[in-house]
Amino acid sequence: MQLVTRSRDLRALIAGFRREGRRIGLVPTMGNLHAGHYSLLDLARAHADVVVASVFVNPTQFGPAEDLARYPRTPEADAKGLAAHDCDVLFLPPLDEIYPCGVTGSVRVSVPDLDGILEGALRPGHFDGVATVVAKLFNLAQPDIAVFGQKDYQQLLVIQRMALDLGFPVGIFAAPIVRETNGLAMSSRNQYLSAEQREQAGAIHATLQWMRDEAGDGRQSFAAIASTARGRLEHLGFVVDYAVIRRAGDL
Ligand code: PAF
Repeated sequence: MQLVTRSRDLRALIAGFRREGRRIGLVPTMGNLHAGHYSLLDLARAHADVVVASVFVNPTQFGPAEDLARYPRTPEADAKGLAAHDCDVLFLPPLDEIYPCGVTGSVRVSVPDLDGILEGALRPGHFDGVATVVAKLFNLAQPDIAVFGQKDYQQLLVIQRMALDLGFPVGIFAAPIVRETNGLAMSSRNQYLSAEQREQAGAIHATLQWMRDEAGDGRQSFAAIASTARGRLEHLGFVVDYAVIRRAGDL
């Protein structure tokens, strides 16, 4: 595996792969890799000749009160894990490679329809930050395909829309969610939870499955199903940001 930190070196490497006619697959991450990330790599490997993973904790997708400073950073372990998972190139850029005009001076990419709803309404600017950094990474790595997890479903739609609207010739692949045995979706942020909270968090998946089954059944309105789901979770002690049923194509 080659480790690259500078954009110009990444571009040179990619240009060489292209001359050889090789298909480039990109897996953007913020590091602290777990089995969910490695499943993205496997999917990229199935559709590309060269797999490039990026590890960059992107400041523009964190709100002022969010966990940017304490977000887990484990670059050595990530590099080892990626090498063991047959990754060809690790792009590990410093901040100024991705934001040469500074973070506040950066051009922003915005996806208006999807940015202000659900997770976007709770985390203003979050999806602008995601769309911006992924557009930059697409520009630098010039991938043929890129893989994102379905865990962040709204993010996936934001990226699909950004790529379509800005004309990036990149096939976006969606990888299935990898879960703990109790159904909790794997996430770097799960380590903020105590063992007991991790166990309890399995109820989120169970409730979502119940909602899906009820919605398919057609006996209750979506609003009634959502309201029962919210009540069930609150009864278990959760503070619920939103429990809603939306159209998968555009939320
Ligand atoms: O899903 C993530 O890890 C991040 O949001 C991404 C896509 C790597 C952009 O920073």
